[in-house]
Amino acid sequence: MSDSPTDRRDPAALDITAARPDPALLDLPWHLPLAEWPESLLAALPRGISRHIVRFVRFRGGLLAVKEIKPDIAHREYAMLRDLQRLDLPTVVPFGVVSGRHAADGTPLDACLLTRHLQFSLPYRALFSHELRPDAATRLIDALAVLLVRLHLLGFWWGDVSLSNTLFRRDAEAFSAYLVDAETGELFPSLTRGQREHDLDIARVNIAGELMDLEAGGMLPADADPVVISERIMFRYRELWGALTAPERFGTGDRWRVDDRIARLNALGFDVGELAISTDVGGLHIQIQPKVVDAGHHSRRLARLTHLQVEENQARRLLNDLDSFAASQNRQDDDEETVARDWLTQIYEPITRMVPAELRQKLEPAQLFHEVLDHRWYMAEAAGHDIAIEDAVRSYVEQILPMKPDEQSVLGVDTIEMPVYAAPPPEDERG
Ligand SMILES: Nc1ncnc2c1ncn2[C@@H]1O[C@H](COP(=O)(O)OP(=O)(O)O)[C@@H](O)[C@H]1O
Ligand SMILES: [Mg+2]
Repeated sequence: MSDSPTDRRDPAALDITAARPDPALLDLPWHLPLAEWPESLLAALPRGISRHIVRFVRFRGGLLAVKEIKPDIAHREYAMLRDLQRLDLPTVVPFGVVSGRHAADGTPLDACLLTRHLQFSLPYRALFSHELRPDAATRLIDALAVLLVRLHLLGFWWGDVSLSNTLFRRDAEAFSAYLVDAETGELFPSLTRGQREHDLDIARVNIAGELMDLEAGGMLPADADPVVISERIMFRYRELWGALTAPERFGTGDRWRVDDRIARLNALGFDVGELAISTDVGGLHIQIQPKVVDAGHHSRRLARLTHLQVEENQARRLLNDLDSFAASQNRQDDDEETVARDWLTQIYEPITRMVPAELRQKLEPAQLFHEVLDHRWYMAEAAGHDIAIEDAVRSYVEQILPMKPDEQSVLGVDTIEMPVYAAPPPEDERG
């Protein structure tokens, strides 16, 4: 291929780094600054506030987030995201880097970092524009605290912790948080207390600023104090960090406390990979300290039983439903996997399939299942008797789901311009 100066659009001038390079990438208009890419290639999804230009590009039936950024930073962030993925941390999935871009007249252009669009994720501003529950801010901060603890446990210092650099997915009643911007981050074998506190301080200051922005835009409840809410990140972080890592000392007669600690970690959604146990010189006391903890206790168990890949709290909810299914059929002592398979084919799949295709953009199947269970509970309460699950689904699909915004590919505007909804969706009336 030619590399003559008159033929700068030649894709050979491009340099594509990707785990699985896809030649179809060459068809995208890399010779144009990202801001000038034709609308026909783009999906207008809500984006958080960012320094760089970010666009969502349709690619092979999916969506890529494309960020225009200096080549060295793009490569560094790409490599960092790959490392974080290898550590099984919740981050956006890196797809590649395109560098060596030139405009038609030969002017060099910045590189592009490509990540897979995180389905059903929402930037916090989009959540605030259609989430009218007064505790939205605290639920986001709780999710961010879990994310920060998970990153810190594996030695990642973020350096730019903020709501803008995080994406949120619904996770039953809660949210789960994903890191989206790894530009400033660094990986260490482990973090010092000072490094962790530094990140925490950055988080608090950024969150306060972001909440003040929301307040100025009338998107925060009138009595909410951004500074007070922002301090919650420190509290929730320290609480979880302590529960996961603090040593515990007890008399040798109290050995049950070892199992108790493990059960408490499981309840928080963590598995214990390694637990250090030591006794003191006199042999009267035992000290235990979790050394390796892995997030995803419930989601891993559900995946093992059913192959469903869902968020942690969704998994908790689904496992509860599986338990009550087993109980209702008197099968608590049956082989767990067989019961799980029956639950999947008799309950979960039929219910999630009852949603008409045109409404499937609204919520992930597992989230929908969770909401249908809630809906059935409210229906039963109002009616004063049990409601068949099929009736609950029908009512939910007819009355609640159509009112919800599409979350797979939410509204076609920048979140900054998104209006606050005038009327709350019906479920908010339930408090
Ligand atoms: N893979 C992705 N999936 C969904 N949204 C994304 C993705 N990548 C970026 N975004 C959106 O773009 C915004 C800006 O991305 P970010 O990496 O923070 O850019 P900057 O470095 O300019 O701050 C994010 O807040 C998020 O809303
Ligand atoms: Mg950012």
